[in-house]
Amino acid sequence: MNVNRAKFRQKLLRWFQTHRRRLPWRENGNPYRIFIVEVMLQQTQIKTVIPYYERWLKAFPNVRALARAPLDRVLKLWEGLGYYTRARNLHKAAQIIVRDHRGKIPSDAEVLRSLPGIGPYTSGAIASIAFGKPVPLVDGNVARVLSRVFYIRKDILAPDVQRQFYRLAERLVPNKNPGAFNQALMELGSLVCIPDMPRCHVCPVKSECRALAVGNPSSLPVKSKNVRVQKIRMAVGLLRKKGRVLVRRRPDHGIWGGLFELPGRVLLNGQSGEEALKQEFKEALDLRVGIQKKVQVIEHRLSHRQMVIHAFSLKSSSRRNTLRPIGNARWASEAELKQLSFPVPYQKILNASSHYERTQ
Ligand code: ADE
Repeated sequence: MNVNRAKFRQKLLRWFQTHRRRLPWRENGNPYRIFIVEVMLQQTQIKTVIPYYERWLKAFPNVRALARAPLDRVLKLWEGLGYYTRARNLHKAAQIIVRDHRGKIPSDAEVLRSLPGIGPYTSGAIASIAFGKPVPLVDGNVARVLSRVFYIRKDILAPDVQRQFYRLAERLVPNKNPGAFNQALMELGSLVCIPDMPRCHVCPVKSECRALAVGNPSSLPVKSKNVRVQKIRMAVGLLRKKGRVLVRRRPDHGIWGGLFELPGRVLLNGQSGEEALKQEFKEALDLRVGIQKKVQVIEHRLSHRQMVIHAFSLKSSSRRNTLRPIGNARWASEAELKQLSFPVPYQKILNASSHYERTQ
């Protein structure tokens, strides 16, 4: 069978009118809000994003407010959403928009793509949803829908297959209502054309779906075997002095760049946490420490890493009594701990440890 594009568009748009979820940025959007939320939605689910989106708009209601905010405040509002490069890029992009575009979000997909953190997906989303440009977008949901409708039995993660999806989406996106159409494709993927048990009986475009005609939509899309998950063990130390905790800022690049952490290191094969921590404190911070006890073990899954973090409370064996910063490390009070941004596993350790301190 062939897919009738006109019918597909019409049926999908009609379905979207009545079935779309009422989301804050759909009811009350503007280009800045759409820019923010589409970056948040790149790797995070809608229900998680909603409260972050609302807090963000209160703190930074427009591009200029975001551009002049200190990076630490931006990262703090992102805390818990993961993939923090997104927050740093949003901040940089806002500054470029103020400097080069008079504070107006560009409407052209190519110009958008020149901004940090904006790739083909996000530029397509902003240009079509905020500015009504007939440009396509492909995210995971759209790729799944297209792989079924057009019966594409190739690895959806392969670059040439991604290009094929873009070409298909480009030919589908209408001149009229492209933003609604793109959102409808994503919505169909979230609500109906779902991964394991697609709800084909309620699908508005079932008459146009080649996989359904063949009889096996749930076998699509084809995904290559998952990338191997790397296991990482770490030890981190809680060292207190005068009611403060020693915390350290991570380098700007790489995982959790620019966020704060408890000092620690990755364990080499067979190395004990105690031994690694003593070394790290001596070599990186010039502090001699002893181990008091293991306080917690936290597991944290990242896209390609499974981390196991062993947290120890430490005691200092040196008599130096100052609260001066040591390189990137500083002694933070309970109030400062609330202001600084920590990756989720460190937040858990700190929360549990402050509770422990209070109940001692
Ligand atoms: N996923 C990412 N952006 C979306 C949007 N605007 N509508 C539905 N799902 C989405």
